[in-house]
Parts: sequence; structure tokens; C-alpha cells
Amino acid sequence: MQEPLISTADFGPLPDGQTAQLFTLRNGRGLEARITNYGGTLTHLLAPDKDGQPGDVVLGFDAVGGYLSETYRQAGPYFGALIGRYGNRIKQGRFRLDGHDYTLATNNGPNHLHGGLRGFDKVLWQAEVLVEPTPALRLTYISPDGEEGYPGTLTVSVVYALTPDNALRISYAATTDRATVLNLTNHAYFNLSAGAQPDVLGHELQLHAERYTVVDDTLIPTGELRLVQGTPFDFTRSHAIGARIGQVPGGYDHNWVLAGGEHFRLVATAHEPGSGRTLEVRTDQPGVQFYSGNFLDGSLTGKNGRPYGRHAGFCLETQHFPDSPNQPAFPSTVLRPGELFSSATEYRFGVQR
Ligand code: BGC
Repeated sequence: MQEPLISTADFGPLPDGQTAQLFTLRNGRGLEARITNYGGTLTHLLAPDKDGQPGDVVLGFDAVGGYLSETYRQAGPYFGALIGRYGNRIKQGRFRLDGHDYTLATNNGPNHLHGGLRGFDKVLWQAEVLVEPTPALRLTYISPDGEEGYPGTLTVSVVYALTPDNALRISYAATTDRATVLNLTNHAYFNLSAGAQPDVLGHELQLHAERYTVVDDTLIPTGELRLVQGTPFDFTRSHAIGARIGQVPGGYDHNWVLAGGEHFRLVATAHEPGSGRTLEVRTDQPGVQFYSGNFLDGSLTGKNGRPYGRHAGFCLETQHFPDSPNQPAFPSTVLRPGELFSSATEYRFGVQR
């Protein structure tokens, strides 16, 4: 019997007595995604390898408890979570908008990171299963005015859908009742070997970006958009992630300025030679944070008892540039009443022999 395209299961209890749900989506062509409404988190993503064998290509846990543990919260890797209201950092948790100063939580050294103490990764989203035209899950969250210090009631909806050509498509929409800033993304960590390799240093990566945003020692952009040419940040041609990582203190954790403005276009391709799996990333966003899992240190054990050591996975977080609210020359992250924010990113899986 064919498996249903969508099924639902309990994912475990939350501290407030509610139960998290786990939704499994299948496209009938080998792609399977599991998503929990806790944090809108992508927990599993199964894609075929060059022999047609499915393997789980993202880091995460088998039950919601993994995402709630103190060790996990302290480490703050945000495995597979929806990130909001603001992906990445805002300098010193401060910004000015329309003459008002706003103060946010500083949860990453002196800075604000990934929405604050209780960002969108830590809230329970309302979930709705959609079947047509493809298996999909719509998650909705209404962030109250003033939450984590941000102005405006923000209504956010995110749809995870599986396409017939083996892509996971994530579509974001948001409206506000007061001027605010936002930068929504997903924080999946990929390991295309499905765990056969403990790290991603052997993955080959191409990024369609000629510049990256230079950061200070707290990872806040200085404002400079530097050419990648002649540096270890040059992925305009495919390179192994590990080939030059030693030349980047701390490893890759930077925003690349994507070519092609804000059109939906191919921005990144990754390939893992052992499994043959490929990943193509398409987005309408102006930037991507390529993070090579530098802060993973083996203290977290994920699905199948796998310890997640340094560089166990890599992220391609499609987004606006970090600290845009304080950088007038960067593409704007301001959303005003009456406007609809909408954006899409696709992660498409294939094989290359
Ligand atoms: C940031 C890293 C951070 C990681 C996990 C990435 O988006 O750029 O600096 O450690 O998320 O929180």
C-alpha cells in the first residue's frame, strides 16, 4: 500500500502541558520531510542517494525533548528551526525606526541573535495541513506587539511544501499593524552524506556571490561589501568546504551578497561526492548566511545516537543581511502596515554520479 502523502503524530510534551505535533510530508518521489509545529522546525529530511537509497540529510532530534533540553538551549544551534523576527544579529540589540529607538534582548554577547530569548524557534505554531497542489504544511504565528522588544503585531505564515521535482519549498508571508523590521529564514543544517561523514568538509559548494559582508569580532557587519575574489570566501566556482576553511578564523559564518537582486534564482549548489547527493538552493532573498557549524562541539547527540561534532552540518540561511536595521545602505528589512512581506526559498535534491 502506498504511504499517505501527509501524516501526523505526537512529538512529545511541552513544558506548558501542550503536546507538540510532528507532520510527515511525502511527495511520492522519494522526498520526505518531517516538521514539528514547535518552532516550525524541520526535524528530518529524507532524500535519495545515487543508488536511490533514502537518507536523512538534516541534523535534529527524534522527539521534542531534544529541542527543549538545557544543553541544547545553551548551545543554541537552532537546528532546522524557523527564525524570527530577525534572522542573525542586530548590533547591541538596538535600532531606530521612524524616530523611535527600540531595544531588544542581547542574547549573543553584546548583540541580539535570531529573534531574542524566545524567538520563533521556541513558540508553538498553529498548523494546517494542505494537500493540493502538493503536500504542504501551513504554520501560522501571531507575534504580539512588543514581543522581544519589536514593534507591531506581526502575523506570520510559513508554508513548507514538497514539489514534484524533489524540492522543499518554504514560502514566508507576514503583515504588521505598526512599522517594524523582520528577516525570516530557516536554520536547517545539511549533511548530504546522511551521517556517513561526521563532518561536511568534503562537501563541494558553489555560491553565486561576488561579495560578502565583512564583520567585526562580534560578527556584526562593518558595512563593507568585499569582493570574494582571491579569498577563501570565493565559492563562485565549486570548492570543498574544507579546502580553505583553515584560513578563516573560526570557520565560515558570513553573509554572502547574492547576485541577481531579489529575483527568485539559483544561488547555491552543494554536492557530496560519496552519496552523490546534490542540493540546489533558490531564493528571492538578497543574501545567504553560509555557516559551517563551527560552534558544534559534540555535546549534542541527535537522531540515531549521532553526536554532532564541529562542522557536522552546514547552513545556507537565505535572508537579508545581518544588522540591516542599522545599515541604511543594505536592502531594507522594514515592513509597514498595509504591506505584505512575501518570500520563497527552495532546497532541491538530486544526484550527480
Ligand atoms: C549564526 C552563527 C550562530 C548560528 C547558530 C548562524 O546563523 O551566523 O553565528 O552560531 O547561527 O546560532
